[in-house]
Amino acid sequence: MKSILITGGAGFIGSHVVRLFVTKYPDCRIVNLDKLTYAGNLENLRDVEQRPNYTFVRGDICDFETVVSLMRRHEVEGIIHLAAESHVDRSIRDPFTFARTNVLGTLTLLEAARRCWEERPEGYAGKLFYHISTDEVYGALELTRPEGVASPFTTTASSAEHHLAYGEEFFEETTRYAPHSPYSASKASSDHFVRAYHDTYGMPTLVTNCSNNYGPCQFPEKLIPLFINNIRHRRPLPVYGRGENVRDWLYVEDHARAIDRIFHHGRVAETYNIGGFNEWKNIDLIRLLVRTTDRLLGRREGEDLDLITFVEDRKGHDLRYAIDSRKLQRELGWEPSLQFEEGIERTVRWYLDNQAWMDRVTSGAYRTYYEEMYGSR
Ligand code: NAD
Ligand code: DAU
Repeated sequence: MKSILITGGAGFIGSHVVRLFVTKYPDCRIVNLDKLTYAGNLENLRDVEQRPNYTFVRGDICDFETVVSLMRRHEVEGIIHLAAESHVDRSIRDPFTFARTNVLGTLTLLEAARRCWEERPEGYAGKLFYHISTDEVYGALELTRPEGVASPFTTTASSAEHHLAYGEEFFEETTRYAPHSPYSASKASSDHFVRAYHDTYGMPTLVTNCSNNYGPCQFPEKLIPLFINNIRHRRPLPVYGRGENVRDWLYVEDHARAIDRIFHHGRVAETYNIGGFNEWKNIDLIRLLVRTTDRLLGRREGEDLDLITFVEDRKGHDLRYAIDSRKLQRELGWEPSLQFEEGIERTVRWYLDNQAWMDRVTSGAYRTYYEEMYGSR
């Protein structure tokens, strides 16, 4: 049985990737290596945890011996590396943790993979180290069209009323790296290490840089789940600065589908940008979120708009992200499947229908699930 190691599989995106691979590839063993930091929640994988082709290992990607023995035991042939510290605000308060996990953790995984794959008779043949990165490594784009104009890009899911671009420039695979936050600096550094392992040792590697994800099971420190929960409880919605910043949003299952396509059909040593072709100014997105949540809660649409509270801006707050993912569209035939309004409706509904999930996360109760499932090892 072929084994694929997925790191960070108990997190937001990782759990969607694990679910997709475990169910779509029953003849593949999916090994999920996750440290279960505050962001790791095994309850995200409750529906697949008993599948015969799924194995969970609690461990730290910075622990070289753990990774090597895991890779040898399962004869891992492919790695999809998602484990990371992922929240920009935390990186501003605690940059060292980001350097440790994102830079040293990635380097540890690369070195473990090199050790294990080079000792095999076939060497690197049939192997792949696929690193999941972010659009934030490219820095920030100008907001030259504050009201937005029709986006030059089209996709099947792009006929939504709001399909706007807020500037002429987009991040391309060749855009020069210019990270601003400790988080994006640590991701940029890890991307460079991955490419260096290809260029130096001939390791088959791939990097993808994706835009903002949204959907079920995102930790409620990030904008969308935090605000849905606050609207439900009628708590203030802290909008950084004037809410003018622009993000390009992609439904998490579309990202997982892209990862699947790229893992199986992407060209080694390439970079692919993944994005939603879907730019939204924060304040417009927040108003949509309030209206949608109000409606689904049976409240008057928009009655909670007065929860919006402008607060001090994030330090070094990147103004605009916008991904050009036409290379992926052109070469591998991937595109987003959902219009944003539909994705937001689905997402709000999920959080409202899964209040128990949210309550266990916000109370900290989710942290006992590992012991309940696996004992206190
Ligand atoms: P997340 O914070 O929800 O999950 C991260 C997971 O990694 C958690 O399960 C955590 O327990 C695990 N982890 C952290 N440190 C670890 C360590 N030392 N060893 C083992 N496991 C560890 O993150 P996410 O939002 O799902 O992001 C996943 C990846 O995708 C990250 O690499 C992130 O940079 C990238 N990314 C995220 C987005 C987004 O919008 N969320 C967009 C583009 C790229
Ligand atoms: O672009 C990809 C990145 O998207 C990923 O690499 C990161 O892991 C992921 O966290 C995300 O980063 P952002 O900083 O863009 O996401 P966040 O949800 O934290 O914030 C989205 C926007 O909303 C951003 O402009 C900051 C703003 N914001 C956020 C929070 C949490 C607020 O105005 N108020 C808030 O309370």
